[in-house]
Parts: sequence; structure tokens; C-alpha cells
Amino acid sequence: MTEPQVPGKKPFLYVVVCAAGVAGDVGKLITAAQEANWDVGVVATPQGLGFIDTEAVEAQTGYPIRSAWRSPGDPRPLPPADAIAVAPATFNTVNKWAAGISDTLALGILCEAYGMGIPTAVLPYVNSAQAAHPAYRQSLERLREMGVLIGSYEPHRPKAGGGADRYRWEEALDLLTPKVSARP
Ligand SMILES: Cc1cc2nc3c(=O)[nH]c(=O)nc-3n(C[C@H](O)[C@H](O)[C@H](O)COP(=O)(O)O)c2cc1C
Repeated sequence: MTEPQVPGKKPFLYVVVCAAGVAGDVGKLITAAQEANWDVGVVATPQGLGFIDTEAVEAQTGYPIRSAWRSPGDPRPLPPADAIAVAPATFNTVNKWAAGISDTLALGILCEAYGMGIPTAVLPYVNSAQAAHPAYRQSLERLREMGVLIGSYEPHRPKAGGGADRYRWEEALDLLTPKVSARP
């Protein structure tokens, strides 16, 4: 894998973690990103926080996990993002993001990322019953039109224990690295 190029510093990757069954493995993406020369900070949805080992993630990244808005005047806990990977992305967050809803910090960051031109990739982890909902198809289409890069995970069967073995965390880096390297 080629490395992302940001002059003078390591590029900073936000990993947005939602409350999907595979979220506990997010350390795999953090490791892959760090090995590819990214610095990483995690933003979890409030529900997503319950799916991850917060201490282990903070030890791995060296940054606090963000989940709620800071108070006015407090310092920013993370540097600005050069790219964002939403992984795993839930049905809920995909639909709210596409609709412009901003009721979690994660969604607030994602909704603004479009206007700020920050390269963003989403790796949904949903089942086929969720994926069959017409709103989901439309949400993915809208995100694609916004330039969001969309992972290739094929939805698993509902109530069948998921498809964690087929979920390619590194795909987020494959999608984002050329975009970051190409930025002026
Ligand atoms: C054990 C468990 C596993 C879940 N797995 C998924 C999942 O794989 N994909 C999904 O879209 N929602 C899943 N959900 C439902 C979401 O957690 C729920 O929709 C939640 O509101 C999503 O919040 P968020 O999008 O803010 O993270 C799961 C819920 C539970 C309790």
C-alpha cells in the first residue's frame, strides 16, 4: 500500500466508530493505519462507545476518544482531520448523515466534512434486511454523489451472527490514501 503524503507531518485520520457488532475490532484499522504512516484519533457515536474497549483504543492512538461536543473554550482534543474513515458505519448513522442530521458529534463532523472537502470513506456493516430499506439505498446514493468513498462489504444475513471475517478494515485506507496523496 502506498503511504499518504501530507507535507511536513503525518496525515491525521479520524476513525468514526458506530454501534455495529464488529466495532470491537476497530484496533485492526488503527494498527493498519499507523503502519501506513497515519496518526489516528477515534470519534465514537454515544452508542458506539459501548462496543469498544475505550482504554485500549486510547492507549493505541495516544488520543482521547471523542464522543460528545466539548464545552466552549475547552481545547480541541484532536488535531484537524486530513481524512475520515467511518468504520463500522451503521444503518442509522448512514441514513442520518445522508439526510444532514447532526445529533451526535460523529454526525456533526461528518456533515461538515463535505463542505470542508475532507476525503471520507464509509464502510457500512449492515444486514440484508436493513440494506433492503429504500432509504438506505438512497442514502448511499446521496453519499456517493457527495464524493464519499463507499466500501464493498456485502450485507450479512439478519440474525446470522454477522460477517466479521469478510469485513475488510484496510479497505478504508485503500480508498483514502490516493485522495490524500493527491491533495495540494
Ligand atoms: C449487539 C448489537 C449489535 C448491533 N449491530 C448492528 C450492526 O451490525 N449494524 C447496524 O446498522 N446496527 C447494529 N445495531 C443497532 C445499532 O446499534 C443502533 O441502530 C444504534 O442506534 C446505532 O447508533 P449509532 O449509529 O449512533 O452508532 C446493533 C445493536 C446491538 C445491540
